[in-house]
Amino acid sequence: MTVLARFLVTGAAGFIGRSIVAELLRRGETVRGIDNFLTGKRENLVGLEGMEFLEGDLTDPFVCMRACAGVEIAFHEAALASVPRSVEDPVGTNRNCVDVTVNLLEAARGARVRRVVYAGSSSAYGDTPTLPKHEAMPEHPLSPYGVAKLAGEHYVRSFTRVYGLETVVLRYFNVFGPYQDPASYYSGVLAVFCRKMLAGEQPTIFGDGEQSRDFTYIDNVVHANLLAAEAPAERVSGQVLNTATGIRNTLNDTFRILRELTGYIGDPEYTQARAGDIRDSQADISRAAELMGYVPLVDFREGLRRTVEWYRETEIAEGIFKLHGQRARRVTSVVPALA
Ligand code: UD1
Repeated sequence: MTVLARFLVTGAAGFIGRSIVAELLRRGETVRGIDNFLTGKRENLVGLEGMEFLEGDLTDPFVCMRACAGVEIAFHEAALASVPRSVEDPVGTNRNCVDVTVNLLEAARGARVRRVVYAGSSSAYGDTPTLPKHEAMPEHPLSPYGVAKLAGEHYVRSFTRVYGLETVVLRYFNVFGPYQDPASYYSGVLAVFCRKMLAGEQPTIFGDGEQSRDFTYIDNVVHANLLAAEAPAERVSGQVLNTATGIRNTLNDTFRILRELTGYIGDPEYTQARAGDIRDSQADISRAAELMGYVPLVDFREGLRRTVEWYRETEIAEGIFKLHGQRARRVTSVVPALA
């Protein structure tokens, strides 16, 4: 007998998607995951054998229909992340962030999915100088990635207002933790720094290192997703909620903490700031606290400690780093615009 999945996770072979699947399975839920392996990795599915997995591309509306059939709640994590990648390839970013979101929403509506939880991004705020960033502030995205993630938000909210689909937008702030790909030029900075510093390689800081981020450990993001799925519709549906810690750290400070944790000796190399980069980012998390009882479970230092430990162990265990590296090269070679 086939058991219908109650939950759908898009981008299930990605860092955030696979972490949500793992927690759902741990809770005994039935889960379907989908990924096209554009940036997701097969290695990330290890341990998720209890999930029904579909390999497919959400740019195809029929794939979206198949993915949504029978589902009650969808977590939409699939995207082509990275600010610099979007600067190089805005069309690819649009296709894999905006087109897939509209397709998924339309399929969710057709399949009578009750709720969609959408992975938004702090990049929607862009270079507004006000700190901390509050959801009531006007957005000012700078990079094509920020624009694409914000366009997705608008579609999501439109589907609530026009069609009555329950939706929650979680605006993630610089998520990091185990399973984040450390091997690509487009990887998040903490994954890159952990890999390099553990290998004794010099990390590079783009700019003066005084830029700051509200670095958010993955467990907090998984926790927020489950709260967003469970909270009453009258409290959260149609809402945009920052998902972060509420505290920011500069890259220079972060480098110093990582030096202690990894045992790396030496200084970073400083080079030119990255195009499309914003200076400071820090969230006001009071709305998520008020509407769904969100409080961060793991603080920055503890998150970094766990992350460094994971990369350290993963490196020892069967050369997963090497696998990550091979995957990153394969992905860039099949998408010419990214090569
Ligand atoms: C942005 C979003 C984030 C989103 C991510 C998706 C903001 C504030 N954040 O992250 O929510 O999840 O895109 O990709 O818009 N850096 C170095 N050396 C490196 C790599 C990066 O110095 O080797 C610097 C970057 O120039 C940047 C900072 O580290 O100043 C963070 O970069 P990154 O981890 O790529 O994330 P954002 O672009 O901030």
